[in-house]
Amino acid sequence: MTPRVVSGMRPTGKLHLGHLVGALRQWTELQSTYDCMYFVADWHALTSEYADTDGLTSYAYDNVADWIAAGIDPEQSTLFVQSLVPEHAELYVLMSMVVPIPWLERVPTYKEQIEHLAEKDLSTIGFLGYPLLQGADIVIYKAQYVPVGEDQVAHLELVREVVRRFHGFYGELFPEPQPLLTRFPRLPGLDNRKMSKSYGNTIDLSDDAEAVQKKVMRMYTDPKRIRADIPGTVEGNPVFLYHDAFNLDEVEVEDLKTRYRAGTVGDVEVKQKLARAINTMLDPMRERRAEVLAQPTRVRDILMDGSSRARAIAQETMKQVRDAVKLAYS
Ligand code: TRP
Repeated sequence: MTPRVVSGMRPTGKLHLGHLVGALRQWTELQSTYDCMYFVADWHALTSEYADTDGLTSYAYDNVADWIAAGIDPEQSTLFVQSLVPEHAELYVLMSMVVPIPWLERVPTYKEQIEHLAEKDLSTIGFLGYPLLQGADIVIYKAQYVPVGEDQVAHLELVREVVRRFHGFYGELFPEPQPLLTRFPRLPGLDNRKMSKSYGNTIDLSDDAEAVQKKVMRMYTDPKRIRADIPGTVEGNPVFLYHDAFNLDEVEVEDLKTRYRAGTVGDVEVKQKLARAINTMLDPMRERRAEVLAQPTRVRDILMDGSSRARAIAQETMKQVRDAVKLAYS
């Protein structure tokens, strides 16, 4: 049997180049080797966005259009919505019975995020339970692998601990899921801070060519280079990190790096070539995105169909889980 991969994304905004490099490229590659299930983690979005839920469903559709534009094939992978498979919540409740609260309090992202998002009240059960819900998302499909970023590795560790404890009470039911990390290092935002829509430092997958051009021209670059004839630093320079990630013309990239180090190229040329490379890469995605969105119910139909396929699997697992917990009434 083909090993299964499960991963999810929270619908909290438009997708940007960071999502492409950090997730979508890998999701696309995995499709040919694994039985892939990718979902909109709308309940996870609620854990921090519960006070303003207006955009959720439109972001969900918009994000999935981007997934497909990036190469996710809804025929090959199962694309679905978490809240359309309520069995995730049932499994979460059953698992919550055996999970000591300190295990969740110890997860590093828990306190970090509470401090980072200080304007939001995250002292909720929903937020504390975030990684446990993530565990239910994964094990309900008996997935072996979970493509995630570095920041999610601690969540997967918790999930494996919970699985072992659950098995201790009720017997073997699930594989212990392993993370699949992206090889590519995290890209900084346009201003060299962490890439985040809240900093307004992203290039979105849905940006048009002109917007990309404008954003690239105001990118942060080597600050000591106030004139084109001053030798510049390539390493860690966001403009070159982006060249490495998106410019397929390796000869051009090498030439620009050499001349940058020597102080024989202007920033404008380096950035113009970067903008062109990003637009060349985004163009076919823009086309596919437009194609998908031209059919008004297409994305919804894909998600409905995927969710019912996912649900059939989840229901089968829940039968086994209820039996194991001895909650079978018929
Ligand atoms: N926590 C993940 C993130 O923020 C999203 C997510 C929710 C997820 N459930 C998941 C990822 C299950 C992988 C598997 O990126």
